[in-house]
Amino acid sequence: MASLTLEHVGKKYPNGYEGVKDFNLEIADKEFIIFVGPSGCGKSTTLRMIAGLEDITSGTLKIDGKVVNDVEPKDRDIAMVFQTYALYPHMTVYENMAFPLKLRKVDADTIDKAVREAARILDLEKLLDRKPSALSGGQRQRVAMGRAIVRAPKVYLMDEPLSNLDAKLRVQMRAEISKLHDRLGATIIYVTHDQTEAMTLGTRIVVMKDGVMQQVDTPTKLYNEPCNLFVAGFIGSPQMNFIDVAVAEKGEGVTLTFGANTITLTGAKAKALKDGGYVGKVVVMGIRPEDVVEEHEYAEGRILSEAFPAEVTVYELLGSEAMIYADVDGGQISAHLSASSAVRTGSKIKCSVDLAKIHLFDKQTELAIAH
Ligand SMILES: Nc1ncnc2c1ncn2[C@@H]1O[C@H](COP(=O)(O)OP(=O)(O)OP(=O)(O)O)[C@@H](O)[C@H]1O
Ligand SMILES: [Mg+2]
Repeated sequence: MASLTLEHVGKKYPNGYEGVKDFNLEIADKEFIIFVGPSGCGKSTTLRMIAGLEDITSGTLKIDGKVVNDVEPKDRDIAMVFQTYALYPHMTVYENMAFPLKLRKVDADTIDKAVREAARILDLEKLLDRKPSALSGGQRQRVAMGRAIVRAPKVYLMDEPLSNLDAKLRVQMRAEISKLHDRLGATIIYVTHDQTEAMTLGTRIVVMKDGVMQQVDTPTKLYNEPCNLFVAGFIGSPQMNFIDVAVAEKGEGVTLTFGANTITLTGAKAKALKDGGYVGKVVVMGIRPEDVVEEHEYAEGRILSEAFPAEVTVYELLGSEAMIYADVDGGQISAHLSASSAVRTGSKIKCSVDLAKIHLFDKQTELAIAH
């Protein structure tokens, strides 16, 4: 297997558009790296440069320490699985999987072994004689994976491989891909704009926006310590709440005021605001829906802020729990509730926030001040 190094990698398209800017990343052997970000942020471009399908216009790409900028795609020992799996309709599952090896003039015995091993890993053994038209979407996607596996490449690149599948199949295939990573011990780079996929699959996640890498971290770190407003808003569903708050000094701590509501903050976060010169200024408070607590909810072990009134505008029952969206003076807030809660649309309630879970961002630079 393989490690990859991207140093100051950039892509300027012939029309002058910079699809990727100064991309730096070390990918260790056997890592499962996710590229995530909104449409057009440069995920596929980066992947295609790694595959060699797109020229690298600045910087260097190394595989196992060797610069490969000018190495042909077929000599990079990389397999790519695309969004549209494009199986050959006239070939059986077996023939589809055997095809990449046939092209490379591998002998029939070796091909047979590789195909049967891939079929075993992907649970396709009973389907080897079928044509793609007689397969479900998930089965077709597995055959496309099989076609990549038979080559035993150093690196797998996957560009939104699950985006054509329905929600249930996606969840199934997500689990399959995770198992596959364990079984193959492979280095995988996986593109998605689905943040649930990113959070569940990746050993590390790269968040991109407008061709620029925003943050690269483990899923937990990204969730708990997003480096800026964009990452904070992108990772997590439903989205983190953002409320503009005015910072004032109060004894050891500070107060955060929005509308007629005030929250008192002490400790490290208050210190970060004071030291950063934010007293007298407006900052953005970020708080995830699960860290907003309605007064009748279970909150043992949490250190809560002062309560503030809210009026529920939307109530959604999600099964084991519910979500509410509510108006508060100076903003709006969404919160998780237990399914047994009596709160409904139109309820006038009181909420507080878990002080340990408040994130603070600079309103101008959008960078995190404290978590
Ligand atoms: N051949 C090209 N010439 C000029 N600009 C291009 C070209 N190909 C892509 N781009 C632009 O580069 C940017 C990055 O494209 P890319 O395909 O990498 O986005 P992406 O993150 O994969 O998006 P999506 O989630 O929609 O697949 C986009 O703004 C796109 O319009
Ligand atoms: Mg893309």
